Amino acid sequence: MTETSYRSPKKRGRIAVFLSGRGSNFISIHDAILRGDIDADIAVVFSNRRNAPGLAVALDRNLETASLNHKDFEGREAFDAAVVKELEARDIDLICLAGYMRILTPLICRAFENRLMNIHPALLPSFPGLHVQQMAVDWGVRFSGATVHFVVPDVDMGPIITQAVVPVLQDDTEETLSARILIEEHKIYPEAVRLYFEGRLEVRGRRVFILD
Ligand code: GRF
Repeated sequence: MTETSYRSPKKRGRIAVFLSGRGSNFISIHDAILRGDIDADIAVVFSNRRNAPGLAVALDRNLETASLNHKDFEGREAFDAAVVKELEARDIDLICLAGYMRILTPLICRAFENRLMNIHPALLPSFPGLHVQQMAVDWGVRFSGATVHFVVPDVDMGPIITQAVVPVLQDDTEETLSARILIEEHKIYPEAVRLYFEGRLEVRGRRVFILD
């Protein structure tokens, strides 16, 4: 990772949300936009699954949607190249991954360096990957939480923007812990996007500074 610093733009931004599932984080970001908390528009909600429930929600909310099926492409790079094309056509400033169940290639990470965020349901760098709420229960950690971070080619390893902590209780299951974490996700993801378009996020190496 380079040490050069990057500062997010202060502008009314154009967001692409990527999802593969129900899209509750997408909804939390869109609700924050509708309340006027975030100076941005969701220009497109994109999915790799045409029948993702989150896409139906987006249509209900009169948002533009797009989907591409990776099976129609020869390999990950070709798929991501097509995705980048979709985004460039829409002049996207920021991609928000919100339960997007596909690993991104370096191609898209580079094209959107410092303009690509993800939310992860654990306190990174602990528990990267999948099924992390179950892992937190299995390890008996006392605290877990959620992390919003910029995306780099190493999965779940990009600069951390914001985190929220929740206790892990003795009788927690994957479901109960996930529900407790999700409440926090819905607070910190819109907050991170708000700070981004207020021009207040500065990336220096692997650290993100929040400017006043
Ligand atoms: C969330 O737990 C998020 O942290 C993870 O995937 C899940 C997506 O949930 N990356 P939703 O589709 O936003 O409800």
